[in-house]
Amino acid sequence: MLTGVRPGKKCTNSFISCLIGTGNKEAAMAIYLNGQFMPIEDAKISVLDRGFIFGDGVYEVIPVYSRKAFRLEEHLRRMQHSLDGIKLPNPHSRAEWAAIINELIARNEGDDQYLYLHITRGVAKRDHAFPLPPVAPTVFMMSNPLPTPPAELLQSGVGAITAQDNRWLRCDIKSIALLPNVLLRQMAVDAGCAETILIRDDAFMTEGAASNIFVVKNGTLLAPPKDNFMLPGITYDVVLEIAAANGIPHQVRKVAKDEVSNADELLLTSSTKEVLAITRLDGKPVGDGRPGPMFAHLYKLYQDFKRDVMRRNHD
Ligand code: PDD
Repeated sequence: MLTGVRPGKKCTNSFISCLIGTGNKEAAMAIYLNGQFMPIEDAKISVLDRGFIFGDGVYEVIPVYSRKAFRLEEHLRRMQHSLDGIKLPNPHSRAEWAAIINELIARNEGDDQYLYLHITRGVAKRDHAFPLPPVAPTVFMMSNPLPTPPAELLQSGVGAITAQDNRWLRCDIKSIALLPNVLLRQMAVDAGCAETILIRDDAFMTEGAASNIFVVKNGTLLAPPKDNFMLPGITYDVVLEIAAANGIPHQVRKVAKDEVSNADELLLTSSTKEVLAITRLDGKPVGDGRPGPMFAHLYKLYQDFKRDVMRRNHD
């Protein structure tokens, strides 16, 4: 048996069979780091890692339902887009990524997990320019239990604030350099809210600090277009697909700042939050201050989709 491979678990994939574990220790959380699976406590990276020094890397968050990575192809495509955006060659083939991801899911508890995948430009003497010759990228992956929003939040909705979107012009890259998002999200927390809705150029809405945002007006769902001002959310795609499949009126177009403040309903989406109603904005109620009919409809359809599609090993 290979070291680190779970007893009774066969390595069928030739790539996975090359991966080395660190003994048969079964940790509460097994992580993957640069070719090895190990307990999180044993994971070590250099202080010279460019992710640590410069935030020079990209990441992905992939939800896992019933032990299957949801929309793996789409997540890997988005990761490739991010890697291309920072000119970092992809260290693995699609089959290798799938093998690592499936092994990590198998090594962690819980049928529903969320995977955090992180690739940096590797370890090199500190210099802003890319290392020459290039060094091996650092690849880190961990899994956590997938949280779902508690029932109280679904019933009450959450509060949000608005703020100027002061991030860079490549918000389509899922960069690990998240300081602006961190500060913007903290503004919401300091105001007793769950999210900050970002307004670019005092004119149009882009997304949330860690989510995509939909506006509802007169029964129509409005979604900003996927461009360089927002992260193309996988949950955003699912919500628009559900809307299209169920005849829910929707438009993908620039959403003006005033449309946010005059919305009948506001929704936020992400892999870990699914679909949530925003019922207070900048201290004022959104609509009547309770989750509205569009939220109720989309939430139900999303849960149906989860049960019938995500959990049945289809995309
Ligand atoms: N973030 N926009 C931003 C800025 C985000 O950080 C996220 C998700 C999304 C939604 O993307 P998706 O539907 O693919 O989860 C939009 C993840 C969950 C995170 O950083 O933890």
